[in-house]
Amino acid sequence: MKKTARAHTNIALVKYWGKKDKELIIPMNSSLSLTLDHFYTDTSVEFKEELTADNFSLNGVSKDAQQITNFLNLVRKLAGITTYAQVDSTNHVPTKAGLASSASAYAALALAASSAAGLTLSKKDLSRLARRGSGSACRSIYGGFVEWKMGTGDLDSYAVPFQEEVDWDIRMLAIVLNDAEKKISSRRGMQTVVATSPYYPAWVKTCHQDIGELKEAIEAKDFERLGTIAEENAMKMHALNLSASPHFNYFQPETLVAMQLVEELRAAGIPCYYTLDAGPNVKVLCLEKDVAQIKAKLAEAFNQEQLLLAAPGPGAHLLA
Ligand code: ADP
Ligand code: DP6
Ligand code: CO
Repeated sequence: MKKTARAHTNIALVKYWGKKDKELIIPMNSSLSLTLDHFYTDTSVEFKEELTADNFSLNGVSKDAQQITNFLNLVRKLAGITTYAQVDSTNHVPTKAGLASSASAYAALALAASSAAGLTLSKKDLSRLARRGSGSACRSIYGGFVEWKMGTGDLDSYAVPFQEEVDWDIRMLAIVLNDAEKKISSRRGMQTVVATSPYYPAWVKTCHQDIGELKEAIEAKDFERLGTIAEENAMKMHALNLSASPHFNYFQPETLVAMQLVEELRAAGIPCYYTLDAGPNVKVLCLEKDVAQIKAKLAEAFNQEQLLLAAPGPGAHLLA
């Protein structure tokens, strides 16, 4: 039976950046994210007796299916089947540009593939399965604010909702400077950092503190505290990249321009904060009431088409 699932991306406010176990994708630290409404992936999966290999298309173009096959092998094992599948996916988010396409991609694939294989997994097991495709995907099973509890291994490393229904006008304005595919994948970047950054132990320690404080800020709807924690956490992550060997970074000149504009807005009394993932695109955390003023300021350097607004979004769900 063909099944289609939709999953939204998420923006990590306290980030996952490093693995304890590469095969099982067990992280070095817990992370906390907000699922977003504007960016998502739709994926359909159908297991068919007549296929002699898995087929994969992304945005209508046929692609190499090796990564998909590796992931589907987990599903086939769980379901006790050996059939190959036709997988068709559409990203409503730029691919590999640091806008978390891997999060929405593997959350959608986990739900579509497990359903198409006849499984009805609990959300916990869906999150564990999505994690095996891409770590950040385990959080996209849920909507709203979500925590990935690092755990110690395959059984206890999964996401749990922290606040699924967000009754808060928090927004994320993505400044798309460049939607080209990045040169250093998240996977490779974090591996270099864990192996070589002298600051890595300090990162792990402060992430534990950041998560505790961030939860308090969310509960208190203290936007300035949330923004400060998120911005500082993102800069700590990028400092790891700068301190790795070989060192690397995801910044482009316009990344710094965007960061500067956000700081100027803040100095002018508008609460807004930036965060960046493994890519040059800057995401501005803000409140709905300030969006128009923030867009007007960003217009000094960016076109309106480069500004994409997202609100809290839902968890992964089946469309058909
Ligand atoms: P991003 O910042 O976009 O998450 P990553 O460096 O994490 O970038 O890598 C993205 C990974 O996810 C790549 O392996 C890419 O092929 C894969 N991917 C992206 N979109 C899809 C999709 N819709 N279905 C399956 N895999 C996808
Ligand atoms: C910077 O989940 O894409 O976006 O597990 O190797 O697939 P893999 O990496 P991925 O890494 C995401 C890194 C991040 C921070 C985050 O989303 O927590
Ligand atoms: Co990713």
